[in-house]
Amino acid sequence: MEILLNKVTFTYGEKKILDEINLSVRKQEHVGILGSSGGGKSTLLKIIAGLYEITEGTCIVSGCQDLDSIRKQVAVVMQNTSLFPMSIRDNITCGHSMSEERISKAVEAAQLESWIDSLPEGIDSYVGERGGKVSGGQAQRIAIARAIAKDAPIILLDEPTSALDDETAKAVMLALENLTKGKTVVHVTHRVETLWDCDCIYDLRGGKLYDTKSKSSI
Ligand SMILES: Nc1ncnc2c1ncn2[C@@H]1O[C@H](COP(=O)(O)OP(=O)(O)O)[C@@H](O)[C@H]1O
Ligand SMILES: [Mg+2]
Repeated sequence: MEILLNKVTFTYGEKKILDEINLSVRKQEHVGILGSSGGGKSTLLKIIAGLYEITEGTCIVSGCQDLDSIRKQVAVVMQNTSLFPMSIRDNITCGHSMSEERISKAVEAAQLESWIDSLPEGIDSYVGERGGKVSGGQAQRIAIARAIAKDAPIILLDEPTSALDDETAKAVMLALENLTKGKTVVHVTHRVETLWDCDCIYDLRGGKLYDTKSKSSI
């Protein structure tokens, strides 16, 4: 199993958000997790991303349990990407040295090529404070290019198109298809229609995960 959660319980202060969650995801499997707002979807994804220390249960990602190692195995695209006040290039590489070929492949797959070509300074254009000079769709595609360039085996998506209008969301979906091809994917959302190619879909309700078909908790 590429991702294995066993009896993971998570609380913010006194408030129990996740209650003995079990989840197993095979290599290259695409899993969707549906749930209403406030149900704990982002919290669950952040645990799988190695951003939160869990107090109960185990979370094993690509065979790793320590947070630093887990973070190297995953690339995350969130709902609202805050870009760094740097160039598009630096936002994609995050300061890691990468070949031009790797960067341009990521730009192309993230559907950013024609927009970047239209900018006077191209990929070295500055995105502004908190990405203020780019639209929401462009910011999401930069985040997708960053995830593609990282080339991690596991892709975690947290409502990556929900802040976008339909037309913009379509272009971002194409980029997401390129990002997720051949990867292990966990995609959390409150909208079932955004789960376009999942092998299985679970519901997150009351801190528990349910199989959408059998209705029993897993
Ligand atoms: N850092 C935090 N500190 C305290 N409570 C939080 C924090 N983050 C989220 N919560 C609470 O945890 C619950 C689940 O949040 P979240 O995982 O963001 O749900 P979802 O992504 O499904 O909307 C919500 O009630 C939210 O208010
Ligand atoms: Mg959320």
